[in-house]
Amino acid sequence: MPLIRLDKYLADLGLGSRKELKELIRRGRVTVDGTALRRPEQKLDPEKSSVCLDGAALHYQKHHYYMMDKPAGVLTATEDARQKTVLDLLDPRLRRMGLFPVGRLDKDTSGLLLLTDDGDFAHRLLSPKSGVEKLYYARVEGNPSAEDVDAFRRGLVLRDGTACRSAGLELIGPGECLVTVTEGKYHQVKRMLASRGTPVLALRRLKIGRLELDGALGPGGIRALTEEDLCRLFNGNIM
Ligand code: URA
Repeated sequence: MPLIRLDKYLADLGLGSRKELKELIRRGRVTVDGTALRRPEQKLDPEKSSVCLDGAALHYQKHHYYMMDKPAGVLTATEDARQKTVLDLLDPRLRRMGLFPVGRLDKDTSGLLLLTDDGDFAHRLLSPKSGVEKLYYARVEGNPSAEDVDAFRRGLVLRDGTACRSAGLELIGPGECLVTVTEGKYHQVKRMLASRGTPVLALRRLKIGRLELDGALGPGGIRALTEEDLCRLFNGNIM
């Protein structure tokens, strides 16, 4: 791994602003391989060096991956002049990490949203080639029929001529269904269901790949993804 500056090492862990971190280093609170280093510009190899802050060992991570249970009513954006965004829900430490949402959920959609600072990861997950399945729970007006299930499976053509890939539709109760898609077109699930005469009343994303929304999070809750979670995202293929 290339050498990086000591203040960058700490900043990548979201431990403070660059200014705060420089100060903390100068005070000798950070040790590298047992020795207090007081120069923020000092370089180290994150994989080989053992770094402690106030005696507690740090574990370097170049990139960060989180899942959030996005509440309805919040924009999937990094900033907005008037409306609350998912980044406004983060605590200051996470906000400093430069996280951004992977893809978009509509303002009124809730559920599984990934946040990262890894552009390649986001690109890979969002690429139509990835074919990663996303599972949504939808409450709809009316009841989708067996013909609708079949039409989803064959691949819908929306009212504006947009062709959708084969998708899953499963009825789970009166006015309730599960939809599985492998792409992320604009308002896709809502438009698919509306095109069959069963408009969406509420939409919630439950799963991406084999990664399920952590039911313990609650609206606005967030947690880091584990290695196993990352593997589940790509069905064990990539990462
Ligand atoms: N499809 C939609 O229509 N909306 C979302 O937020 C996600 C998928």
